Amino acid sequence: MTGSHQACPRCNRELPLDFAKAECPGCGGLLEVRHPPPDTRGAALRDLFGRRRGATGALDASGVWRFREAVLPGVRPEEVVSHPEGNTPLLARETVSRWSGVDDLRLKHEGHNPTGSFKDRCMTIGVTVAKRIGARAVACASTGNTSASLAAYGALAGIPVLVFVPAGQVAAGKLAQTVAYGARTLLVRGDFDACFALARDASERLNVYLLNSVNPFRLEGQKTIVLEALEQLGWEPPDWIALPAGNLGNTSAFGKALREAKDLGLIARLPRLAAIQAEGANPFARGFREGFSRVHRVRAETAATAIRIGDPASLDRAIDAIRRTDGVVTDVTDSEILEAKAVIDASGVGCEPASAASVAGVKKLVAEGVMRKGDRVVAVLTGHILKDPGLLLRYHQEMDPPPPRANRPIEIEPTLAAVEDVLGDRP
Ligand code: F0G
Repeated sequence: MTGSHQACPRCNRELPLDFAKAECPGCGGLLEVRHPPPDTRGAALRDLFGRRRGATGALDASGVWRFREAVLPGVRPEEVVSHPEGNTPLLARETVSRWSGVDDLRLKHEGHNPTGSFKDRCMTIGVTVAKRIGARAVACASTGNTSASLAAYGALAGIPVLVFVPAGQVAAGKLAQTVAYGARTLLVRGDFDACFALARDASERLNVYLLNSVNPFRLEGQKTIVLEALEQLGWEPPDWIALPAGNLGNTSAFGKALREAKDLGLIARLPRLAAIQAEGANPFARGFREGFSRVHRVRAETAATAIRIGDPASLDRAIDAIRRTDGVVTDVTDSEILEAKAVIDASGVGCEPASAASVAGVKKLVAEGVMRKGDRVVAVLTGHILKDPGLLLRYHQEMDPPPPRANRPIEIEPTLAAVEDVLGDRP
C-alpha cells in the first residue's frame, strides 16, 4: 500500500488504517502503523516541527499533533480529539543528577500532561482513530493511568468508555480520575494481566474498540515523547534514554520513534534505551539477562502499581527496540524506587512511584559501569506526584521505622510555644 497503512512486522501482511483489531488476522502478530516518507525530511522537517511549537492552531498547540507527519499524516483538524497534550518540560535538577551519578541527567516530565501521565499522548490519537472508524465504545485494561486518560478523552469525544482495573490495586488519584471523568469502571478481582485478558475478550465479543498499548495507533502518539525530547536537545541525541517498563508499549514506541527519526534524517545516531522494571515485576529484565532466549511470566508484586505487570503484551516489539538501540533492561527494588522518588520529590519536581524507577535504574547502571558519569541521559518521568497520594502518606507519615528520607509532619497544639519548640529542633 502506498499511503499510511497498518502492517504485521512478523509476516508483512498489510491492512488498511481502518482495520480495527490489534492483531494480524493471518499470524496473530501485533500490527504497526507505517507511513509513506514525508516530502519534507531532515533539517526542513526539524524546522517545520519547531515553527509549530508555541502556535495556537488546533493541531499545532498539541505536542503530539505538531509532529503529525510522523504520527498520522493527512489528519484533518476537525477530526482530532485533543486537549491539547504534550509539550512537557525537560528538566535538569542538580540534586537528582548528583544522586543518580550522572552529571547531565534530564528529566522528561510526562506528568505535565492534562491527566497527569504520558498516556494522553496515546489517547489523543487512539480516540481520534476510534471516532474516525465510528467505534460505538472504547475499552482498556489498566493499572490506572491508561484508564484515567481514556476516560478523559472518551468524555471529550462523547464516546462511552469501559475500563477493567485490578480491584484494590489502583492508586487513589488514578481511580478517582477514572470515575470522575465518567468511565464505566469495572473493578476486577484479579491482577492487571487478568484484566487485560478480559478486556481483550470483551472487546472482541462486544465489538468495542480496544485501546490498550497493543493498539498500534497508541504507539504513534507515544513516539512523540522521544521526538519532543530530541527537539528540546536541539536534535543532538543523548547517550541514553531511560524509562520505566511494564506492559512494554512505551519501550516499543521509543524504539520505533528512534528508528524513524534516524530514517527521516532528524538525528544522526541512535541513543541507547535503558528499560527499567521493578524487581517484583521483571519478566523483561529476566529475559534480557538470558539474551531473550525464552519468555518469562511472573506473578507481579511491587509498590509501583503502574508497572505491576507479569506478562507484558508488547514483548516482541520491545525486544526489537532494545536490540536495535543496543539497549539494556534492568530491574530495581521497591526501596530503590522509593528512595529515587523521595529524591525527585524533594527536588520540587515530584513524580509517581513507577516513574522513579527510571532514575533508580540510572543509578544502578552507573554503579554497574554500564552508564558513565559523563554520559548524557534523559530519564522519563511518566506520571505526576499526585497520582499516588496513598503511598506518599505511608512513606512520610506511617512507615515504622521511618525511611531515611521521610519528612514527618508534626502535630502541635495551636500555640506559639509549640511552634518554637519544633523550630528549636530544626536549625
Ligand atoms: N509509568 C507509568 C506511570 C505507567 O502508568 C505505566 C503503564 C508505565 C510506566 C509503563 O509503561 O506499560 O508502556 O511499559 N501503565 C499502564 C496503565 C499499564 O494501565 O496505565 P508500559
